[in-house]
Amino acid sequence: MNDTRIGLLGLGAYVPEKVMTNAEWSRLVDTSDEWIVARTGIHRRRFAAEDENTADLAVHAARAALDDAGLEPEALDEIIVATDTPEVYSPDTASFVQHRLGARQIPTYDLGGSGCAGFLQAVDVARSRAREADRHILVIGVEVLSRLMNLTDRSTCVLFGDGAGAVIVGPGDHAAEILASVTGTDGSRTDILGIEAGGTRTPFSAENSPDGRMDVTMHGQTVFKQAVRHMSAASLKALERAGLSRDDVDLVVPHQANLRIINAVGKALRVPLEKVFVNVQEYGNTGSASVPLALAQAHEQGRIQDGDVVLLTSFGAGFHWGSVVVRF
Ligand code: ACO
Repeated sequence: MNDTRIGLLGLGAYVPEKVMTNAEWSRLVDTSDEWIVARTGIHRRRFAAEDENTADLAVHAARAALDDAGLEPEALDEIIVATDTPEVYSPDTASFVQHRLGARQIPTYDLGGSGCAGFLQAVDVARSRAREADRHILVIGVEVLSRLMNLTDRSTCVLFGDGAGAVIVGPGDHAAEILASVTGTDGSRTDILGIEAGGTRTPFSAENSPDGRMDVTMHGQTVFKQAVRHMSAASLKALERAGLSRDDVDLVVPHQANLRIINAVGKALRVPLEKVFVNVQEYGNTGSASVPLALAQAHEQGRIQDGDVVLLTSFGAGFHWGSVVVRF
């Protein structure tokens, strides 16, 4: 392994134009703006247009990240796409992205099934792969949840939105250096959060997937507690690995699941809430896209300055979790 500084060379994001408000949801299912805002902090989310699919969103975010890094697609050595809502069942979304971007015939793969934690797991993998051979790796988090989720289940449908975020991980003195990363999995909790239909245990049927849509199984309160516990523990471990303390953190960019979880993570970390980036009110929970979308927006809004220490953290089905410390 060499000592080259590996970091984020560029950031990009994309959200579809269509806005879906809480008021619109309240006309479709038995819910209200008050309930959704009080329990989640979400006011609106974006839904992909009918002719927009996962690879479209991913390519928009990828192009923005390449532009930000000042790189052409030919410079890429690898592509990883984190998503639970792929373009097609097989092959992977990353193959579509490679072709559409005009990248070389480089290795590409999807990291699927990790729910909202997929992007940071992918960054963790990309960091070691980049360090091994000075590779430039495009890492994308993308979801089109609106296309597949059960639109009649009020306990889940109001939570989610569509979007994409991307980073280029690679070597460079001007990179926002990845100082440390921690990921983990508790595979004993697979029944708490997930999608059953479509696998070999429960293939799709007219009963479990009407209109090709799928039920999300979610024990909300357990997910809430586990999310706070694992995001805060992984974050403290990542800071320790980086030789830093919570006082060194300039901005936390947590998974945007809901405002109460975000605030609880800030509190558990004892980081003031003004140092915690929040955009869940605008986009809802965009799964794997949530952290890279929030990171790109925080940067664009001037919330991150040179030298700042930024803590990224996420949690999702599996359970999986991850925290990454970056110095810009
Ligand atoms: N509108 C109105 N009422 C609703 C809705 C809705 N959209 N959804 C559920 N309810 C009702 C329930 O039916 C229940 O009614 P009842 O008391 O008559 O039975 C009542 O609201 C309370 O339901 P709970 O599930 O107990 O509500 P809770 O306070 O736990 O809030 C929530 C639910 C928001 C999902 C919460 O548990 C939570 O935030 N959990 C975290 C889960 C999460 O963020 N998941 C995202 C995916 S995973 C991830 O990203 C980490």
